[in-house]
Amino acid sequence: MTPKPLELTAEQIRERVGDLGDWFHNLDLRGVKTAPNHFLGDYPTFKWRAFADAIPADLTGMSVLDIGCNAGFYSIEMKRRGADRVVGIDSNEGYLAQARFAAEVCGVDIELRQMSVYEVGRLEEKFDLVLFMGVLYHLRHPLLALDLIHEHVARDLLVFQSMLRGTSNGLTVAEDYPFAETAIFNQPGYPRMHFVEHRYAGDATNWWIPNRPCVMAMLRSSGFVIEAQPEEEVFICRYRDNRARSQAAYPPRRKYDRD
Ligand SMILES: C[S@@+](CC[C@H](N)C(=O)[O-])C[C@H]1O[C@@H](n2cnc3c(N)ncnc32)[C@H](O)[C@@H]1O
Repeated sequence: MTPKPLELTAEQIRERVGDLGDWFHNLDLRGVKTAPNHFLGDYPTFKWRAFADAIPADLTGMSVLDIGCNAGFYSIEMKRRGADRVVGIDSNEGYLAQARFAAEVCGVDIELRQMSVYEVGRLEEKFDLVLFMGVLYHLRHPLLALDLIHEHVARDLLVFQSMLRGTSNGLTVAEDYPFAETAIFNQPGYPRMHFVEHRYAGDATNWWIPNRPCVMAMLRSSGFVIEAQPEEEVFICRYRDNRARSQAAYPPRRKYDRD
């Protein structure tokens, strides 16, 4: 059953928004903006507008997992598109509290859980649509996260976004090179991840920033087929059975998965 939106005045909403700390998502909660001075602008509305048409307009009958859901912007949009079930996970309880409040104000039912992407195996469920937006570069083990998503929770569609730095234009990488080949690694189009030892943009949680060829290669390597790139940083991907290739994921496969 669709919950009734919380009956609060704009003033009461503004007060609760303030109590819930700094917001990364600039939501519009009945006229109250949660992050009006966001350093990226009206985030993530402007990003959403650029790829909203690339995913199904009607999600009726579908389940959605929003990994790193933050204050729930995308989870709420997926519910507005009719998704049967939306689960939002985030490692940060403060952001989840914001998402809980936003969902209540909007009158949408979202299941929110404090959980790291590394723990998605615990959900023991596959989802028709997985959103993995703006999280990869915050991880110390980004490829592991993609492998785990593929292994445990992706059934069909993956909507992926990452901050990218370096070249956008990839070169054609051969299947193999002789040991003596070294020049290829200095080509700007070679898939590359930039390691951030300290901080980037004042943020100590930025660890690995890929270039575009790298992120595309990682998605493919984890078992996803890239079907569309509606926006510079956004990739619409489809699950492909990759079990023969990906052996890195943990926790160990459940017994029936090994058959
Ligand atoms: C840049 S925000 C992106 C939020 C949202 N997905 C978006 O695209 O607007 C990164 C989010 O990932 C969450 N996060 C960081 N590390 C995580 C992890 N290991 N597991 C789950 N969420 C994580 C942060 O708490 C934060 O909410």
